Amino acid sequence: MKAFVIPNESTYDHIANRLVETGYCILPQLLSSPLNTALHRRVMNLDDDDFKPAGIGREIDFQLDGNIRRDETRWLSIENATDKAYLEAMSEFRLAINQRLFMGLFDYEAHYAHYAPGAFYKKHVDAFKGQSNRVLTTVLYLNNDWKTEDGGQLQLYKSDSNEIIETIEPDFGCFVIFLSEKFPHEVIKAQRDRFSIAGWFRLHDPLEAPLI
Ligand code: OGA
Ligand code: MN
Repeated sequence: MKAFVIPNESTYDHIANRLVETGYCILPQLLSSPLNTALHRRVMNLDDDDFKPAGIGREIDFQLDGNIRRDETRWLSIENATDKAYLEAMSEFRLAINQRLFMGLFDYEAHYAHYAPGAFYKKHVDAFKGQSNRVLTTVLYLNNDWKTEDGGQLQLYKSDSNEIIETIEPDFGCFVIFLSEKFPHEVIKAQRDRFSIAGWFRLHDPLEAPLI
């Protein structure tokens, strides 16, 4: 499925430069159109009960809090050919960024997210309490014909501030990358169904290493 992946060396050079200069990068399209289309078809074909209400925190810290977020999510799995094609594209991305920035990105996790009308995700940072090994966030949007009045924009804030530095429409194929710990961000209330894939490149967590 490698043929699906568009990004070339100069795309990765551009992304690496943006990450060094500003800490984020917004691309109107990163993946090939057939892969974007396959991912869109896949998310549209998932049933409501394939998604679970998203929580905050992990494992024993996990809580549902509808005042903070109202999206529903489903993890991608390599068992599914379309998910696998996306995860392979992200694996290639990881190696390309490590080559340029020595970030030591170790693995990647990603979920589909569905924001039903009225759903939002209040201002937050993508790093769990006591577990800040998420270093780079990605979001791929899978919505056709999104209009400003549909809401659902992603807003990036300046670090430790209420100043909004970017407002991003969740347009089909648009791919956003940012340093997970640096940018508080928020998803404005969506007025129609909004689909995306949110993902995180992580550093190696020594606590998860097998004992040798
Ligand atoms: C997240 C998130 C942003 C978006 O899932 O943590 O911030 O635009 N998503 O969907
Ligand atoms: Mn987030």
